[in-house]
Amino acid sequence: MNIPRQLNVAIIGCGVIAPAHIEGFQHFPSVKVVELCDLDKSKADALALRYGIDSVSTSYHTTVARRDVDCVAICTDHASHAPIAIAALNAGKHVLCEKPLGESEQAVQAMVSAAQSNPDLVASGVLQHRFDAVHQALRLAIQEGLLGRPLLLQGRLLCYRSHDYYLNTPWRGKWASEGGSLLMNQAIHFVDILDWLGGGFSEITAAYCNLLHQGIIETEDSAGFTGYFKKWCPRFFHRNVIQQCGLGTFFLRRRLRRSG
Ligand SMILES: NC(=O)c1ccc[n+]([C@@H]2O[C@H](COP(=O)([O-])OP(=O)(O)OC[C@H]3O[C@@H](n4cnc5c(N)ncnc54)[C@H](O)[C@@H]3O)[C@@H](O)[C@H]2O)c1
Repeated sequence: MNIPRQLNVAIIGCGVIAPAHIEGFQHFPSVKVVELCDLDKSKADALALRYGIDSVSTSYHTTVARRDVDCVAICTDHASHAPIAIAALNAGKHVLCEKPLGESEQAVQAMVSAAQSNPDLVASGVLQHRFDAVHQALRLAIQEGLLGRPLLLQGRLLCYRSHDYYLNTPWRGKWASEGGSLLMNQAIHFVDILDWLGGGFSEITAAYCNLLHQGIIETEDSAGFTGYFKKWCPRFFHRNVIQQCGLGTFFLRRRLRRSG
């Protein structure tokens, strides 16, 4: 793998999460953010001014064609992740892509194929909560058997997103552009942590619905699932002996709040 000593990064998408990427990269002296790209030039210009970055673009094609860009960080809406990542990989750039990798399984498969066709490039998603100290410690404790054999890992996320959150950012709340709301956007981190701590799900039983945002979003705002970890509960295991299995259950609910 050929990682240059000095890494030039371009950020594609200059919305809410982009500053976290810029500030993260700025911690590393060997990394320089050289370009900001957004369809909306005023957003790229604003961040360029704030962080002292010289170059902006309104086309990711232009950005990935720059010879001096080594890596792109994709911070756009979910449905644009795959086309941008594929273009970047095929232009020889390393890729850091915000979660979720894509809005659909087909989109993610296409990205994975592009990454496999370019084995010298690093392609990674962003699931940063794996690095939280508590999650690192918990994983180590499970791996080393300090907690015995876990029978149940349980998570619960109560959060709320207002109607305006969806109305002000039209790509949210739509199957085509977000690919799902609660599960794909907010709770993805918690589902990932359960999956990661338990060593991977073999099977999941789930339900989701839209409790508080009917007429505002197409997608789900509430969900619950029970997952069976492949390590403890292999495929075709009979459900009646479920108490002997490793389980992950997750209850996700928007905090019930009157929304005006
Ligand atoms: N890891 C985390 O904790 C975390 C937190 C927040 C958001 N995110 C993820 O970051 C991504 C962006 O979220 P956000 O809240 O910043 O969204 P946002 O809507 O605030 O910003 C997205 C930006 O991308 C731009 N954009 C869209 N398509 C583009 C294209 N083809 N070329 C260039 N620019 C384009 C839009 O103009 C917009 O400015 C999403 O995948 C989201 O799930 C991750």
